[in-house]
Amino acid sequence: MPDSLRNDKDILEVPESRDFRAYHAFLRSCRNFMEGPLVQQMGSAYDESIGDVAAPQTIEEAQPVLDDLLEFQLYSWCFRHFQRFKYHRPDYGIFDTVNQDRDHIIAELESAAESAGDDLRLDDSLELPEYYRFVDFHQHSGGVHSDPLDGLSYEFGRRTTNPAHMDPNLIYRLSYSQFPDRAFDKVLDWGTGHGAGLIEWQKIHPESECYGVDLSAPCLKLAQKRAQEHGFKFKLSQQDIEHLDFEDDTFDCIFHLFMFHEIPPVNLKNALREARRVLKPGGLFIGPEFGQGDGSPMFRAVQQSHAWNNNETYTAAWIDFDMDKAARDVGFKTVSIEPFKPYHSDKVKKGSRVTSWRFYQLEK
Ligand SMILES: C[S@@+](CC[C@H](N)C(=O)[O-])C[C@H]1O[C@@H](n2cnc3c(N)ncnc32)[C@H](O)[C@@H]1O
Repeated sequence: MPDSLRNDKDILEVPESRDFRAYHAFLRSCRNFMEGPLVQQMGSAYDESIGDVAAPQTIEEAQPVLDDLLEFQLYSWCFRHFQRFKYHRPDYGIFDTVNQDRDHIIAELESAAESAGDDLRLDDSLELPEYYRFVDFHQHSGGVHSDPLDGLSYEFGRRTTNPAHMDPNLIYRLSYSQFPDRAFDKVLDWGTGHGAGLIEWQKIHPESECYGVDLSAPCLKLAQKRAQEHGFKFKLSQQDIEHLDFEDDTFDCIFHLFMFHEIPPVNLKNALREARRVLKPGGLFIGPEFGQGDGSPMFRAVQQSHAWNNNETYTAAWIDFDMDKAARDVGFKTVSIEPFKPYHSDKVKKGSRVTSWRFYQLEK
């Protein structure tokens, strides 16, 4: 539990039985196996099966080599099904579990939303972009926006998504540890979701006035509830990052976490332009994202399968996106793309696909 919580009884939680906890701990271990040893094994098996023959040069050539490997078949099965088990299993799945306490949870979220006043701006008339509406990202049925409990399910789901049994909030702290060491007056969390990123930010940057935008009303209501639980005041609004209603030159910093691969290239470029518009001159647009790998056909084929298996549809397009060019095209003055160093440490994760994660820092 976060240390700055005001009072345990104020906290909205998924009702967890011991069996439920054990089941999700098991799933997390399964994912660690899948993302660590299994990925390594798959790489070695791929190299072995190519042997002395000319290495595949395209995804189309790499795919049949992968398809023949038991390791790839197992990896694909695991990716698809661990996630399904997490959400959908009738006894310990997240959806069934949160629904057992449905009325109470909804009442708590509504009460938080009502007491927020202008700090939470929801927009019933907002048209959700098709790329978002029609994809059940991460196999979360109906996406994270269609049911009042979606925010809570999404927030809980992080526990089994985070590698190496990591505290799910560690990822934010690792990201913020890469930011320039200075004060930021006004910050925007770009796709704030359940708001955990803003909470971790405010703990280490009490000077900041914190804003968060997201398309999902259920997520924003939960973010509001979490802010209240911590005694924090955020300004949250339901907006599309492609069309923000903030004035030009508003923010000192816009931060994000693994957003790029969820947005089709055209929309991503529009959103970058919009982010630059609302940043102050010298402001930073900053955060980590899955890397684009070494460009090898095998990496690209595996990423493509990840896109299909976990409904992260635009990952396949992201690996070909030229962020340096797109950021300069929309007017960012400097663009830095570096390995996301904290994630390369053995302590967090060894030898898996996360070693290609990158840290993006653009300056207006
Ligand atoms: C990768 S998650 C990041 C969530 C959160 N920041 C976290 O740390 O877990 C993507 C979030 O971005 C939101 N999102 C996706 N497309 C968006 C858009 N065009 N405008 C605003 N929010 C968007 C989703 O609803 C989701 O909450």
